[in-house]
Amino acid sequence: MILEALHFSAALAVSSLRKPREIAGSVGLWSRARRCAKAWAPHEENCQGFIEEKVGQIVERRSVAVLGSGLLRDVPLDYLAKAFQTVTLYDLVHLPSARMKVRRLGRENVSLVERDLAGGLEFLKAEGAPDLVISACLLSQMALHASDPAAVVRRHLADLLGGPWVTCLITDTGYEIRNRTGEVVGTGDLLGGEPPPPAFRAWEWTVAPFGEVTRDTETVHRVIAV
Ligand SMILES: C[S@@+](CC[C@H](N)C(=O)[O-])C[C@H]1O[C@@H](n2cnc3c(N)ncnc32)[C@H](O)[C@@H]1O
Repeated sequence: MILEALHFSAALAVSSLRKPREIAGSVGLWSRARRCAKAWAPHEENCQGFIEEKVGQIVERRSVAVLGSGLLRDVPLDYLAKAFQTVTLYDLVHLPSARMKVRRLGRENVSLVERDLAGGLEFLKAEGAPDLVISACLLSQMALHASDPAAVVRRHLADLLGGPWVTCLITDTGYEIRNRTGEVVGTGDLLGGEPPPPAFRAWEWTVAPFGEVTRDTETVHRVIAV
């Protein structure tokens, strides 16, 4: 609790948007990521591996935009900073822990921008379209807080997949709640009912292992990579 309170205060002090609700959400995510590090590790490896695979297919490597860079856990920051001339990390909130990761890299070519991405991606074109745009486990989170989740999902997918750049989309699309015998006791959709695009890869992400939400259930998200 003390660590979380310190992180919250420090984030509020340095955030350009200074929105306590969003900062509290990010601190909650940071805290859960620490508690569930072991359960999240395979998902984070899959994300990083897929992003590196995508970069390997790209010839032009001037700039990359990472949308929903968050805690920089599923993004191979060091690899991107070496592969591209400029790396721009976008999120509603950049916590001090993420800022530290960037600072520790000791590279001048990585910048952090706090921005609400639910309003669409037109700004990327206005700023000079990047060669690669990575949407990193952002979409379901944007949908979660939107008054019209389906509209936010449709817009993000249209902007991302229709832009003048190579795209890398990683998102969770739905979840299952399972008991200790593996029986599914609940399901849910995370994209506001919108159909996800066809995936190149898919995997499961144990977002809440047994004991995190209840003693006898785990929550497992289905993740796609496009
Ligand atoms: C699951 S986390 C992403 C994890 C991140 N890719 C990582 O490597 O740690 C989802 C992120 O989406 C961000 N987010 C949610 N809604 C947003 C919005 N409307 N605009 C920008 N970022 C948003 C949250 O702040 C959070 O950092």
